[in-house]
Amino acid sequence: VTRQSSPDSTPVPLVDLRAQYRTLREKVLAAIESVLESMQLNLGPNVRAFEQEFASYCGTQYAVGVGSGTEALHLALLAVGVGPGDEVITSAHTFFATVEAILLCGARPVLCDVRDDTLNIDPEQVERRVTPRTRAIIPVHMHGQPAEMDALLDIGRRAGVAVIEDACQAHGARYRGRRAGSLGDAGCFSFYVAKNLGAYGEAGAVVTSNPEIARAVAALRDHGSEERYHHNRPGVNSRLDEIQAAVLRVKLPYLDEWNDARRRLAGRYGQLLAGANVRLPFEHPDCTHVYHHYAVRVADRDRLREHLQAKGIATGIHYPVPLHLQPALASYGWERGTFPNVERAANELLSLPMYAELQDADAQRVAAAVLEFQARDRPGVPHAREVQS
Ligand SMILES: Cc1ncc(COP(=O)(O)O)c(C=O)c1O
Repeated sequence: VTRQSSPDSTPVPLVDLRAQYRTLREKVLAAIESVLESMQLNLGPNVRAFEQEFASYCGTQYAVGVGSGTEALHLALLAVGVGPGDEVITSAHTFFATVEAILLCGARPVLCDVRDDTLNIDPEQVERRVTPRTRAIIPVHMHGQPAEMDALLDIGRRAGVAVIEDACQAHGARYRGRRAGSLGDAGCFSFYVAKNLGAYGEAGAVVTSNPEIARAVAALRDHGSEERYHHNRPGVNSRLDEIQAAVLRVKLPYLDEWNDARRRLAGRYGQLLAGANVRLPFEHPDCTHVYHHYAVRVADRDRLREHLQAKGIATGIHYPVPLHLQPALASYGWERGTFPNVERAANELLSLPMYAELQDADAQRVAAAVLEFQARDRPGVPHAREVQS
């Protein structure tokens, strides 16, 4: 990567898609051109090859390319039999799409609080919410770190329900050595443009080693048909297109390298922010975190965010409104205070710039700006809590 470290006035984006594109331009253009020359535009050779390559990367028997991460979740749930009247347990700290997929099946979302350290679903809470109507559990590997899969798989096994991983933020992450997505009955990925592995449009995949799930998802993504114009059940139109698959095939070989760079950068932020009054992301000893977000926690989040913005440093909030307080879910009657760890996280989380091409000098600028804000804000007065080495 050739980009020079930026002078103090150059904006630091949250994610820099152009910086990555510059490193891949020729290969991407050649791949797109060859799709256009072939005019095989969906479910063709690139989709088939990407499915094999991605399954092999994840360590599963199958991958099925679909139109988005949301559709990956929706179709995986349908494939394991989730339907109206069923309950699906998931975390209240996730992107809205996780719950949307449950609603699209006509099922009822049952939310849980997260662990305060990892911000991943708390297995004890899952256990307490299993009922005879539970049909699936969706652990979400938030911010790029896998949930506690052994405990969750054990709950799933005892209850006789499917465990569908939402790995949309965790491409390449590992749990006890195994890849995210390969641990449950199926794993669902988004290749949204800004993901660790991002397409240049919308795309997603379901990975699994269960041939029935793979077959069901492959039919459901294409109007429920295995043979053209023969429809066994209604599905959707959610085919992965060839141009996106071709782009993903160019990018996949770099994913580990990019994740390593993210992890190095996370380590660097950790050093640089050691003296700041922020709580750094916690890396669970069982996990290899791939830092889709580098989300710190800080008491005075909104003012710090403004300070960074004024210095040209972009940040993100993932996510400002917990799921149980979303207007779209008001009919379920969850009140403020129901999931205290999620609510606290929603007030404190701040995602700092994080992408493989981010330069060390930029990370230094970000950290210096955080330290400057805090020194100016409360000279000599440490915040009472949330300091972690
Ligand atoms: C945790 C999580 N689940 C689901 C999704 C949905 O993926 P998509 O935007 O590709 O539909 C996303 C990403 O956007 C996500 O971060």
